[in-house]
Amino acid sequence: MLWLPAISPVFKRLRAVCNNHLFSARGLDATRAMREEKVRELVGCLRDRHAGQVVNVGVVMLSGMFNLMSNVLFSEDVIDLKSDDAQELERLLNDAIEEITKPNLSDLFSLLSKLDLQGHGRNFALYIKKLYDFFDRVISRRQSAGGEKNVDYLGVLLQLHSEDQFSLQTIKSFILDLFVAGTSTTALTVEWTLAELLRHPAVMSKVRGELQEVLGSKEHPDESDMDKLPYLRTVVMEIMRLHPPAPLMMPHLAMADGAEVGGFPVPKGTKVIVNVWAIMRDPASWEQPEAFMPERFLGTGLDFRGVDARAFVPFGAGRRQCPGMPVATRSVMLILASLLHAFEWSLPYGMQPCDVDVRDRFGTSLNMVTPLKAVPTPVWH
Ligand code: HEM
Repeated sequence: MLWLPAISPVFKRLRAVCNNHLFSARGLDATRAMREEKVRELVGCLRDRHAGQVVNVGVVMLSGMFNLMSNVLFSEDVIDLKSDDAQELERLLNDAIEEITKPNLSDLFSLLSKLDLQGHGRNFALYIKKLYDFFDRVISRRQSAGGEKNVDYLGVLLQLHSEDQFSLQTIKSFILDLFVAGTSTTALTVEWTLAELLRHPAVMSKVRGELQEVLGSKEHPDESDMDKLPYLRTVVMEIMRLHPPAPLMMPHLAMADGAEVGGFPVPKGTKVIVNVWAIMRDPASWEQPEAFMPERFLGTGLDFRGVDARAFVPFGAGRRQCPGMPVATRSVMLILASLLHAFEWSLPYGMQPCDVDVRDRFGTSLNMVTPLKAVPTPVWH
């Protein structure tokens, strides 16, 4: 899906599956219990293995997201949360992403692309093959389990395969797309949020106050609680404005002549890569754009979908806008509510709030220059 043109019939069918099945209200409810269970496991892992210790927040969140995503996709864990070693799927994805994001001469001089001078094309093809082999084994296990009905995404896709709508190859590529697009973006949002909250103790205590008021002694929130947490929601929106985990939209294509950017004409057929990071820090649209101020969203009526006039576009815009937005917002809210209600978060010994480094490293995803380290202390023992 990531690489198909928006006019391709397969793209349109995949988009329809997202809207009508996977991320529709019914589809989301069908997989809700799995997300809640995986978030509870993440909290349990932090409590059992890391209580009172300094943790690398991004690493733990990414592992948790891998399992959340793999369960929603095909009802299997791909990470052993009790082990510190990177596991097969994590290693393969990291290698493939590293390969594809290396500077490539062929991107600049298309005549060179056939020669693949730096070997990126060959290496990437090898990683992709290994990833497909991995998903082949997942699909075979499912098929050999017989007619068992699964509510996960693979169950939906195999049903459509049996109706001749999708080939197994399309299903494998699509599962890979969802993994790549959905795991690190969600994990990064959680990491950035904890970083800004540790840097701004007053906002942290307001968020935790809201959680205490809404959840009280309920140890594990569920997704139905999320609508009762408007302040946490504004915090997440402000994080996505200031630190959008996907700072660039997917390449879009100018569909007609006549568009203009900064006085330059953009001819039909031009590949356009929109920088949402810059749009959401534009002083023409945002007061004090560099400041972390969740209150700016209170009472605006804005939601994650974004409204052009205010230039809030963390999930992109138009036909290629992120199809996973409904599940991403539910997951981010649930993970944060659970982590902030179950633990007091503090900085490693000797660090002050102002020492939290919130500089970002611009790339296909927006990582922290200094990965966040923090200490979770359980509220309940
Ligand atoms: C906080 C989490 C997330 C953020 C900030 C985010 C952001 C984005 C952005 C900016 C785009 C490009 C949109 C454009 O070009 O207009 C995108 C595309 C995409 N996202 Fe997300 N995303 C997130 C989570 C997810 C999740 C959880 C999934 C799936 C489970 C997902 C699936 C996709 C897919 C498949 C595309 C490609 C759409 C296309 O090519 O038409 N994303 N996302």
